[in-house]
Amino acid sequence: MKKIVALLLVLAVNVVSVRADEGMWLVHLIGEKTYADMVKKGLKLSKEQLYSMNKSSIKDAIVIFGGGCTAELVSKEGLLFTNHHCGYDAIASSSSVEHNYLKDGFWAKSKKEEIPCPGLSVQFLVKIDDVTESVMARLKDIKPEEYTAKLPGILMEMSKKASEGTTYDVRISSFFKGNQFLQFTYELYKDIRLVGTPPESIGKFGGDTDNWEWPRHTGDFSIFRVYMSADGKASEYKADNIPYAPKHFLPVSIKGLNDGDYAMIYGYPGGTNRYETSYGVKLKVDIENPNLVNLRDARLKAMLAEMVKDPAVKIQLASSYAGIANYWKFFDGESKQLIKHNVIKQKEDQEKAFENWAKGKPEYDNLFANIKKTYDTWRPYAKGRVYLLEGILGSPLMSFASSLKNLDDALSNPNSKPEDITKMIAAVQTQQTKFIKGENVASDKNILATVLSMYYHDIDPAQQPTAFYNALKATGDLNKEETYQNYSKSVFDNTMFLANAKFERFITKPDTAMLHNDPAYKTAMAFVNNFNLNYSKYFKEFTANNFALNNKYQKGILEMKKGQEFYPDANFTMRVSYGNVKSYSPRDAVKYKEICTLKGIMEKYKPGDYEFDLPAKLVDLINDKDYGQYIDKKANDVVVCFITTNDITGGNSGSPVMNGKGELIGLAFDGNYEALSHKIAFDGELNRTICLDVRYLLFVVEKLGGAKNIIDELVLVKQ
Ligand code: ARG
Repeated sequence: MKKIVALLLVLAVNVVSVRADEGMWLVHLIGEKTYADMVKKGLKLSKEQLYSMNKSSIKDAIVIFGGGCTAELVSKEGLLFTNHHCGYDAIASSSSVEHNYLKDGFWAKSKKEEIPCPGLSVQFLVKIDDVTESVMARLKDIKPEEYTAKLPGILMEMSKKASEGTTYDVRISSFFKGNQFLQFTYELYKDIRLVGTPPESIGKFGGDTDNWEWPRHTGDFSIFRVYMSADGKASEYKADNIPYAPKHFLPVSIKGLNDGDYAMIYGYPGGTNRYETSYGVKLKVDIENPNLVNLRDARLKAMLAEMVKDPAVKIQLASSYAGIANYWKFFDGESKQLIKHNVIKQKEDQEKAFENWAKGKPEYDNLFANIKKTYDTWRPYAKGRVYLLEGILGSPLMSFASSLKNLDDALSNPNSKPEDITKMIAAVQTQQTKFIKGENVASDKNILATVLSMYYHDIDPAQQPTAFYNALKATGDLNKEETYQNYSKSVFDNTMFLANAKFERFITKPDTAMLHNDPAYKTAMAFVNNFNLNYSKYFKEFTANNFALNNKYQKGILEMKKGQEFYPDANFTMRVSYGNVKSYSPRDAVKYKEICTLKGIMEKYKPGDYEFDLPAKLVDLINDKDYGQYIDKKANDVVVCFITTNDITGGNSGSPVMNGKGELIGLAFDGNYEALSHKIAFDGELNRTICLDVRYLLFVVEKLGGAKNIIDELVLVKQ
């Protein structure tokens, strides 16, 4: 165990090849040189203050928020700041047409008014242990080609064992593509309440047009509170729970910032693949990204058409729409930047350098030839898989229908245990309730018609579910959209999944004949089975071989770069990144400032627009120049957002941006368009993190929300 800690330390220590602002460092393994560089850039804290196992440190103020965001504690009473887009689902779920918090915002003026958010949780990091040796011992007799099949089970089993007899959640994460393993212990808090949110015309100002772009004028924040039991333990929601008392919380600085200031971001970056091979980039750019984007585009159009017609549908679909749209634009931008920055060539050069280093090391012979072969074998089927996942199963009805396959299999298997079937039925019932709540039939009907048509026109006929399209052909011309519309209508009219009495009968006495005759199940299964029976074997082979080969590639890189600075790819574990507030030049002759202000909000303001409208009260406040203590003297305005050179990615959303003293200056919420290839290749010139200035947050809370109670809870640093 110790050995690996030492190895990671060495890797993190020497700054050689990477530019300073690249890197998502493991908080407990910041080496001396990296730390020295942080200090040089402006850090004023000791290593112990950054991370300590026993004493309170900044890590104690940072939590995983929900399933994929970060939040930070900002008061001694468990107050949390995160992004609006992270709280979005909880805000939408708390909303109705009468109490529309998405549209109008919400401010609790006392703790009694805070709104419980069932299903929402936060996780505190308790400790980190290196378990590489024990995992490796379990992998000893397993071939690398079997890792993808066996490793998740092994890690799950080990995590379960480690958490036995504790109240903690334990997860073991793989680093450097299966070359190292760390065990993370978390404490889960489930009583989270909504304290405040601006209207989405502020929290999502600029919508998808401005998403992933600088300059940006979005007030992307929402405020929650963690509660615990009266005796200080993690607890489910209970009316008499009390506010959580944190080990550490962040003071909030309203001193303002300058170009070049130190900026440090803690959080949970979800995933990067900085050692992706040129072959992987090619597959992404040629097939995966463009097809995903086209299919999402079609689904989004069908959803938006209904959302603009009816405020209730807008609330119902808002969160799902935002999630689909966010990565629709991301993957489109990612491809454009991968091509523009010639990342394939960059990767090929790295691969050549590796081959030179590996000469005379038989272990690495033919590594890239084998990777190429693996991709070549899979490539002809890759588009079909995207069309299944992002197309057919992009219809919520199809996705729900396909989730009944497990129950179908269990019912058809004479050896199934009755208690397992009972459990599955209960799960299906819960799923259906959730599905019905989120289901908008009008848009889904159009989605299904569109994706069935796209699949027919775009996928190699040899790879299509022939029987399905032959049967459809009998009902009409497959080149006419009307054929798909009619078919989709009949599926929605006749499926039991949307008819509660019929579904109830099925659930009370599940029978496979009823399932097999359901038109939604039949349709979904035509495509799922087509993939499972004919192509999933290629996909499994591809992922297994690719993982084994990349595991070897990473092992070689670790060896090749021994003694150099090295951070592992992001994998939704706590990281710290550091850099500076910094302007940039996106293209020739253009310079972007490091801050933007209320003035820019008014420049973008379009009354009545879906993305650029504003609450009348904000317009008044801006016109009155009533900025109070939140004014930036230099700008003579309120700073809305700023940019930094930090290395972050999705999952970091909501992360605190701190100054050298660990005081909160902003909330990270996005990356810039010019560096959207950042998951695969970090660009030291162009990469910027887009942050909400905390002074704009406070301005909105106090002046627009009138929630002085929230301001009073904070520790404000004024000079
Ligand atoms: N791009 C942001 C992120 O991934 C999310 C922004 C949400 N806004 C939107 N218009 N979809 O963290």
